[in-house]
Amino acid sequence: MISPAQEPAAASTTPATVFILDFGAQYSQLIARRTREANVYCEIVPHDTPWSELAPRMPAAIILTGGPESVLVPDAPGMDDAVLRSGVPVLGICYGMQLIARDLRADLVPLKRREYGPATLHLTNPRSPLFAGVPADSRVWMSHGDSVLKVPAGFEPLASTSRCNIAAMGDEKKKIYGVQFHPEVVHTECGRRVIQNFLHAIAGLSNDWQMQSFVDRAIADIRAQVGDAKVICALSGGVDSAVAATLVSRAAGEQLTCVFVDNGLLRKDEAKTVVAAFRDVLHLNVVAVDARKRFLDRLDGIVDPEEKRIRIGHEFIAIFEEEARKIPGVEFLVQGTLYPDVIESKTPDSKAGHKIKSHHNVGGLPEQMHLKLVEPLRLLFKDEVREVGRVLGLPAHVVERQPFPGPGLAVRVLGAVSEERLAVVREADAIVREEIDNARLDPKPWQYFAVLTPLLSVGVMGDGRTYANLVAVRAITSEDGMTADWARLPHELLERISLRIVNEVPGVNRVAYDVTSKPPSTVEWE
Ligand code: XMP
Repeated sequence: MISPAQEPAAASTTPATVFILDFGAQYSQLIARRTREANVYCEIVPHDTPWSELAPRMPAAIILTGGPESVLVPDAPGMDDAVLRSGVPVLGICYGMQLIARDLRADLVPLKRREYGPATLHLTNPRSPLFAGVPADSRVWMSHGDSVLKVPAGFEPLASTSRCNIAAMGDEKKKIYGVQFHPEVVHTECGRRVIQNFLHAIAGLSNDWQMQSFVDRAIADIRAQVGDAKVICALSGGVDSAVAATLVSRAAGEQLTCVFVDNGLLRKDEAKTVVAAFRDVLHLNVVAVDARKRFLDRLDGIVDPEEKRIRIGHEFIAIFEEEARKIPGVEFLVQGTLYPDVIESKTPDSKAGHKIKSHHNVGGLPEQMHLKLVEPLRLLFKDEVREVGRVLGLPAHVVERQPFPGPGLAVRVLGAVSEERLAVVREADAIVREEIDNARLDPKPWQYFAVLTPLLSVGVMGDGRTYANLVAVRAITSEDGMTADWARLPHELLERISLRIVNEVPGVNRVAYDVTSKPPSTVEWE
């Protein structure tokens, strides 16, 4: 969790920024993404951010998101009145449109039945610049419980659906627009076009923002933030910490020390390749800590998955703190926090749902370290971070790395963890990855690995009886790891994987393929 006091200062050199006022929509992140896809820079801010905070940053346009509330209830989330008086172009989406209507004293009604799902949008004013290039009828995605009955003074209705008379409205002079449908979701055919029309044609923004511009600005901002101070970063081998560290090293060079903790729970050759990539290719100043024995000792005899996760997390923090103390005058800690983490850390515990697993990543370092945070990726999504990584010249094996749990192979060795059992899962895992990579599947599964079960079964090898380990293979398709399906791998590929594992990995005589989705399973077995 990041306390507000630790939040880094806002970017100071940001030109042409679109501010997205967030009313708690499910889709706020998608709006930001579509804006960046239109090559325009944007930031998401809380809906009630005072205009006095936004104005000095010279907003180029404002987008109001949807939200779960009704604007008609008392205390409905609102915005500073000055937004609509500022002269800055505004696009209200769903709740955002209703809020414009409410604040400008138009009529709204609650619908008897919510309109949810696909609808046909019919343009009633096809000349509106918001709908330039959009066909007279197109499919859109609706999700609302209230409806605008009459547009505010100065506005014109622009489009309708069969159940919503005013599905879009606009005041061309003041450049304030509202759409009842969701232009940010893929199911809305004209969505990208509407967002681009608003940004480029209406707000007059050019489409010159690129990842290279992000990189240049991020480097300048980091420089301004850290000055001459020393900075420390924990590298996990994952793409987020690698990209964050590389950005900081471009900004602060020798002031940055990266700490890589080899916990002995990494995949085959991973510790070596990670350290080599960071030192030799990216020229980072890396302190590699061989802590394999410490982690194994801490895991000795532990079979409970949560206990394993917690012990690994604590040990990691202890080691990192020890290393940090060895560097005098460290003031800043780099974290590869991504936008979805920022949102998650703002979710009140009551809404966060049940804890399924304790996640440990390098992002979870404790606040008592009293270090100020440098979080250059906090406004980006995972695939955008990969793009930044490519712009920075990170090696493909770092940029394309599969998600890998912080507790590593300890949660893929079911039951007690030992050096021998880690060796079995490491070898089996290397075969699974090599075979699936070589098969060049299209689309490629999202994640694939081996699990060592605590089961022994009877087999026959040569002429002898064996009583040996069962390895499970897991390959999934997913978009974000939140839900997943098992990958329908070709049988010949499964056969090759199975044959190689039983032939090449000592102590294994049986291979099973996991055919469960998430839910009800999870991706990792522990
Ligand atoms: P589960 O097992 O919860 O995994 O369905 C969902 C995704 O998260 C990864 N995972 C982790 N990632 N720290 C991480 O950074 C962790 O402790 C952790 N545990 C699971 C998992 O590999 C999958 O991609």
